[in-house]
Amino acid sequence: MAMEPRAPEAATVRRFAGMLRQAHRVVAFTGAGMSTESGLPDFRSAGGLWKQSRRFEELASVDALEHEYAEFVEFYRWRIRMLRSFRPNAGHEILAQWQRQGRVHRVVTQNVDGFHERAGSTDVLLLHGTLRRVHCVECGRSQSSDAFLEPEGTRCSTCRGKMRPSVVLFGEALDSATLHNSFQEVTAADLVIVLGSSLVVSPANLLPEAAAQAGAQLAIVNRERTLLSHLFHMELRASIGPTLKAMDRALG
Ligand code: APR
Repeated sequence: MAMEPRAPEAATVRRFAGMLRQAHRVVAFTGAGMSTESGLPDFRSAGGLWKQSRRFEELASVDALEHEYAEFVEFYRWRIRMLRSFRPNAGHEILAQWQRQGRVHRVVTQNVDGFHERAGSTDVLLLHGTLRRVHCVECGRSQSSDAFLEPEGTRCSTCRGKMRPSVVLFGEALDSATLHNSFQEVTAADLVIVLGSSLVVSPANLLPEAAAQAGAQLAIVNRERTLLSHLFHMELRASIGPTLKAMDRALG
């Protein structure tokens, strides 16, 4: 049974909206909690992907790409198909609207579902890559992950190399330019809003600390407490969609 989305009290929403209104350069840093209201599981809360099966976490690795390719392909085809059955939710849409209105300068995400882009956010920094693209391990040729679902889709049409999703696998480094740009963005911001992340995976979870060190205000909307709660000037234990909707109404 899906948890009833929880919206925070009106006074808290007004305070949060005030922080957003006063800030000059706002960056949103998002995690899988952004997409659960679309119907996609996150990773570590009840029902999350890594909670459903330890095997899933093992398959999301370079080791599985190299040594268990058939199961690796099956797992990622399942995840790519899942993306096609769901769509961005109000939280994604409000962030995209706030970017258009100049209220949010940029979105940095750990998510690979492509929902920020589908909702209209632009120039999103994709720390963990994207499930919307696949590429050849040999020649790097890139194409839409729809092709990966075809029987022949696992072999590169140019060099016959293995095709793989363009996500960061466990055991792999993040793209250094994306990581550098993300640190640049959060340390130049005067407000960083974290939405739906347990903040346990590094180096992504170093971004809030870097922002705090650089003097930014930090706010988080997350259903559960995180290990970095001490960093936040405001911590809303609530669901993202109802919270952003209430904030958008308060912003007028
Ligand atoms: N509203 C607010 N918070 C939510 C919601 C929601 N609708 N749904 C879930 N959450 C919270 C959960 O309570 C949890 O604390 O979002 C958090 C999601 O945490 P994780 O599942 O750990 O996801 P994330 O932090 O994005 O994981 C980081 O780990 O496995 C890797 O590559 C994967 O990008 C992922 C990274």
